[in-house]
Amino acid sequence: MTGNPVTDWARDYDIFDPDYVGDPFLIWDDLRTNCPVAHTERWGGSWLPTTYADVMAISHDIARFSSSDVGVMPPAADAEEKPPSAGGIPVLPPISVDPPEHTWTRRLMLPWFSHRRVEELEVITRDLCRGLVDGFVADGRADAAADYAQQIPVRIISMVLGVPEEMSDTFTGWVRDVLEFAHDERRREAGAEALGLYLYEQVQRRKTEPGDDLISELVHTEHEGELLSDEIVLGIAALTLIAGVDTTWSAIGSSMWHLATHEADRRRLVAEPELMPTAVEELLRAYSPVTMARVVTEDVEFQGCPMHAGDKVLLNFPAANRDPAVFERADEVVLDRQINRHLAFGAGIHRCAGSNLARMEVRVAIEEWLRQIPEFSVPEGAEVTWAGGQVRGPRSVPVVFG
Ligand code: HEM
Repeated sequence: MTGNPVTDWARDYDIFDPDYVGDPFLIWDDLRTNCPVAHTERWGGSWLPTTYADVMAISHDIARFSSSDVGVMPPAADAEEKPPSAGGIPVLPPISVDPPEHTWTRRLMLPWFSHRRVEELEVITRDLCRGLVDGFVADGRADAAADYAQQIPVRIISMVLGVPEEMSDTFTGWVRDVLEFAHDERRREAGAEALGLYLYEQVQRRKTEPGDDLISELVHTEHEGELLSDEIVLGIAALTLIAGVDTTWSAIGSSMWHLATHEADRRRLVAEPELMPTAVEELLRAYSPVTMARVVTEDVEFQGCPMHAGDKVLLNFPAANRDPAVFERADEVVLDRQINRHLAFGAGIHRCAGSNLARMEVRVAIEEWLRQIPEFSVPEGAEVTWAGGQVRGPRSVPVVFG
């Protein structure tokens, strides 16, 4: 777990500190004013920009800020390079590669998350959400994070990958091991290996028994006259699962938490469902779940900070989205916010490839819940818990309703 409590957020921040995980907003406000690019030696050392302009500038400067290691945690000290057949996932293209690999691997994924594909998945997502609400609506209580948010994206992504939906809990466990418990090296490595071994088997099977899923298509795709390597297919499949699950479930969970704890917003959204498109963008802005890392490629002075080749910089999209220089009433959720150029999905060449899917899932999840449960709240004394690090979102949101 984390070490000493933090007393100096500018020089010694800790993204796993319970105060930061639970409520980072005042910390970012303070840093933005007093030390816009913070630094720490914890967790392998990193820099933490907090303004919109800085996060945007670094996202676009791919020459000096590489995606060769996008994890907010350093790799395990004794991590060995394993081949895919032994559960190794050497690369996660396109997220963990720079051009030129980035360009063609991203192109392979995009059609799977186009508006047309997402429209097809919307019908399935709506049925799924209805079924989940049907399952607990009569109980008068549920955990909006664990019983609802957590159940949705993993099932949709399983369908895209052509892997059994019944494996959902297992996938969720592996993804949590890799992202949420990343500070526990053993757990992270074990989760990644189990996920790698499972997907490796799936990749081999698709070579002789292709289906109509993403893995099958990749296995039979050529690049520059050659079939894609196992390493690339496995990496893209693993990224789809890792990027598509925890992120969206966290965004849905934060939205449910917000609506459970902000009666006026909840009632307004029920009364004015036409606000849903701007409300979804606003909830994504205010509770952006994802922080990514970059590796500095050459010594550079950035905003007066001496960054050295090999240093890590955390792209703090969530803090950028609360920057009052860009967003009026930045710390409030304004359901009908008209201008909202938020960075929840990143910026530049690595901007989220699954944002159409993510937006649809968040919208449908809120719509289907509110249709059957328009009034709900967190009861007195109930404990809401949050996970943080690479992806921030609630893990338990106990709510009661009529
Ligand atoms: C609310 C949910 C989501 C959020 C907040 C989110 C956020 C992000 C962010 C911030 C990035 C940029 C990474 C970087 O700059 O290093 C990213 C990239 C990516 N996301 Fe998402 N994401 C979400 C859902 C999804 C879903 C559902 C998928 C579907 C598989 C997905 C797939 C990807 C992929 C493949 C990339 C890498 C794109 C590239 O490197 O070119 N994401 N996402």
